[in-house]
Amino acid sequence: MFKKKSKYNVAVMGATGAVGEEMLKILEERRFPVDRLVLLASARSLGKKYSFHGKQIAVEELKENSFNGIDIVLASAGGSISKKFAPFAVKAGAIVIDNTSAYRMDPNVPLVIPEINPEDIQKHKGIIANPNCSTIIMLVPVYPIHKTNRVKRIFVSTYQSASGAGARAMRELEEQSRDVLAGRPAKKEIFPHQIAFNLFSHNSAIKDEGYNEEELKMVKETQKIFHDTKIKITPTTVRVPVFRAHSESIYLELEKTPDIARIRKILSKAPGVKVVDDREKNYFPMPLEASGQDDVLVGRLRKDLSSSKGLCLFVSGDQLRKGAALNAVQIAEILIQ
Ligand code: A2P
Repeated sequence: MFKKKSKYNVAVMGATGAVGEEMLKILEERRFPVDRLVLLASARSLGKKYSFHGKQIAVEELKENSFNGIDIVLASAGGSISKKFAPFAVKAGAIVIDNTSAYRMDPNVPLVIPEINPEDIQKHKGIIANPNCSTIIMLVPVYPIHKTNRVKRIFVSTYQSASGAGARAMRELEEQSRDVLAGRPAKKEIFPHQIAFNLFSHNSAIKDEGYNEEELKMVKETQKIFHDTKIKITPTTVRVPVFRAHSESIYLELEKTPDIARIRKILSKAPGVKVVDDREKNYFPMPLEASGQDDVLVGRLRKDLSSSKGLCLFVSGDQLRKGAALNAVQIAEILIQ
């Protein structure tokens, strides 16, 4: 059982990364009751400082004994780091909210989107996993529809920003853009292909039947979060030259014929969702507008002209916020309620 306190000692593992930095901002913005904040990263970041509620906090090197007295660890330093260090945190009595893929499919670890399955949080044994960003951004608007008209199958194509590959990938997009515009060759370090003025199939490893890891995560994680192994998902994931916020074109095969006006009403009341769907102005979700927002923007609500039970949507959601840091902090908020 998690011991209730008025304030908690929180460690951010990977505090200097794109998601880690967003976690600090969100803890501050949402006034999470933090007593001591410990910022953990690699030895490369020693000397770096971050401001938190007006106080300067120095980054410490992540070590096995970094978790003494810590209540909650927000982890976002990569899968291998979580695999290695989360057990030390749990042993020291902390609860780890892990933003990596290390534990997501572990049957002993709840995989949680607070708008969908908050009750799973209480089943934790020390680790709670945050889903993959593409899964979160897809499911937050799909779930309220699923609750009233069961989703049998999802076809989804993603338009994923550089932020999903971390802070260095965002810098690579910026530097490549400057280089290309100045007539210089674009240097590749993080992505396998030029990201500036280009797009390519998601840069995760290709696995079974030609699907990449990102696509397989979307399939398996959806089934786990929905507690429904029957739901079918066919994803295609693509990296696009956008700094932050992922977009997704989603097609839902529903149990019953959808009524667009009713779906719009359901979505306009759903938590974590904002309807952006102005046909007259041709104004729909865009990653630039989703960036920095907590809500997932949803629009282009259309019936499928070729099938009576199909529904089309287009969504944009901030990959660093709802797709990662915000979802993790929301889990922590439920944990301490
Ligand atoms: P550092 O900045 O010191 O390398 P991103 O996903 O944006 O690239 O961020 C990755 C985060 O994980 C950073 O905070 C990074 O710290 C941290 N990290 C990476 N490798 C290690 C490691 N071996 N030990 C501790 N933290 C690490």
